[in-house]
Amino acid sequence: MLSIKDYQQDFVTYLENGVTGKDPRNLYEPVTYILSLGGKRLRPVLTLMTTDIFNGNYKEALNAALSVEVFHNFSLVHDDIMDDAPLRRGKQTVHEKWDVNTGILSGDAMLIMAYQLFENYEPKTFRALAKLFSKTALEVCEGQQYDIDFETRNDVTIDEYLKMIEYKTAVLVGAAMKMGAIVAGASEEDQKRIYQFGNNLGIAFQLQDDYLDAFGNPETFGKQVGGDIIENKKTYLYLKALEFLNERDKLNLERLFASNPEDNTVKIETAKQYFVLSGSAQATKQAIEDYTNRAFKILDSLNISNGNKELLKSFGTNLMNRTV
Ligand code: IPE
Ligand code: IPE
Ligand code: MG
Ligand code: MG
Ligand code: MG
Repeated sequence: MLSIKDYQQDFVTYLENGVTGKDPRNLYEPVTYILSLGGKRLRPVLTLMTTDIFNGNYKEALNAALSVEVFHNFSLVHDDIMDDAPLRRGKQTVHEKWDVNTGILSGDAMLIMAYQLFENYEPKTFRALAKLFSKTALEVCEGQQYDIDFETRNDVTIDEYLKMIEYKTAVLVGAAMKMGAIVAGASEEDQKRIYQFGNNLGIAFQLQDDYLDAFGNPETFGKQVGGDIIENKKTYLYLKALEFLNERDKLNLERLFASNPEDNTVKIETAKQYFVLSGSAQATKQAIEDYTNRAFKILDSLNISNGNKELLKSFGTNLMNRTV
């Protein structure tokens, strides 16, 4: 096993050699731009780690890991268009730096490149990876559509929200790990369990993403703080606040999330006050911990060494406490 840092480093070296610009420049430059902006590289590291954990050779998982990261970055380019987001990883989003059409097509190209990377595998592994990838990618689209649909709905339930974030975010974390297990030739049962582990970790991860979107430090967060409030996103913070507030405040918050003011400063501050005072900020923190613990419980049933279980636990704990 390597340290997280070493997996990250190996992965980035592989990425830098594998993704090079070609003509037409306006198609490929945004691809190298977004992929070199960094990010946590969480999903590819999980793929590589999982291959090692199931006694495979992690280097054989580099193409699968790259595929997952390219797909993730594709989804971000399109997500930033859909969310009207100006900032990504502390830099201009692709559609801001170029334009929306460039973001759409470069994103499309990345989706295809992600798929293409599976061609590096033998037929049996190729089939298993491609099958998982197609299912996951479609679910991500479904999750993204729910996310957008919910912006203009005022009857979204917590269950609907949880399903939405499972689809838009968690399934890819699960799939990243399952791909690592596939490359290692792990048993079907272990593949299923590691997917479930990743899935629960992914739900905690998106809850934390929503939390940071409101309460992150603008100096270091790398994205526009308050972006979800501006876009009227029906997050856990929002839905729990509605549940906890009295009728009058509930109505005020609902009205706030049906408004689209020119200047969003007051809207963001007011929403955050409701999140804190109602207890929904605290409830979100608790939910993050609960889903992380659910993931940890799944580890008990896995056929891997205790050392590796601890490694996955510390990875999950770090994610829960992240600020970016
Ligand atoms: C952002 O993902 C999109 C979500 C699913 C929340 P990350 O937080 O993993 O983004 P990077 O890759 O580290 O920038
Ligand atoms: C993103 O969710 C999920 C996908 C990109 C599929 P968000 O919209 O919350 O992600 P960020 O906050 O922009 O990174
Ligand atoms: Mg979004
Ligand atoms: Mg977004
Ligand atoms: Mg977000």
